[in-house]
Amino acid sequence: MTKVAIFASGSGSNAENIALHFKGSNSVIVDCIISNKSDAYVLERAKKMGIESAVFSGKCFAETDEVLNYLHSRGVDFIVLAGFLLKVPQNLLDAYPRRIVNIHPALLPKFGGKGMYGSHVHEAVIAAGETETGITIHFINENYDEGDIIFQASCPVLPTDTPDSVAEKVHRLEYQYFPTVIADTIEQLKASSFS
Ligand code: GRF
Repeated sequence: MTKVAIFASGSGSNAENIALHFKGSNSVIVDCIISNKSDAYVLERAKKMGIESAVFSGKCFAETDEVLNYLHSRGVDFIVLAGFLLKVPQNLLDAYPRRIVNIHPALLPKFGGKGMYGSHVHEAVIAAGETETGITIHFINENYDEGDIIFQASCPVLPTDTPDSVAEKVHRLEYQYFPTVIADTIEQLKASSFS
């Protein structure tokens, strides 16, 4: 059984969608949900689904091994960032090489990097006159939004679109693809560690 930890800072609709996708799976389990915000709605979702959750401050993430120790104590094998706003510290990158994936709500390498999160991304896409946007699922490295891309899917941006309507389309793509891309990535990881 591969144990997954989901990191999220906000609403957590992706976290919930992923957890529901793997409910009853005999190969992958969402073991815990971790947040850096004690009032993040994702924690309510975790409670409702009966999934263990934990909150660590930004300082804890950046300056201690507490998060790493927590993940090790639970036997977590794989980490999914779903709307997680902090930079992942080096100790976690070292402990989980090519085992941490993020979803970005645009077609990287466009509209990525520091400050490009949430509605800022969709506002920038519209301001740039883009005719399409989408999602990017990628491994993470020490720079924001720069790890190897695993998967992208796109949707049109119409002249009538607003940041909210773009966000809605992007969320639909996220719900459709993120869980299966996670499942495939874990399968590939398992296959490669046996070869
Ligand atoms: C998603 O659009 C994701 O791509 C981005 O943050 C948003 C999180 O939404 N990284 P939610 O918290 O899963 O509803």
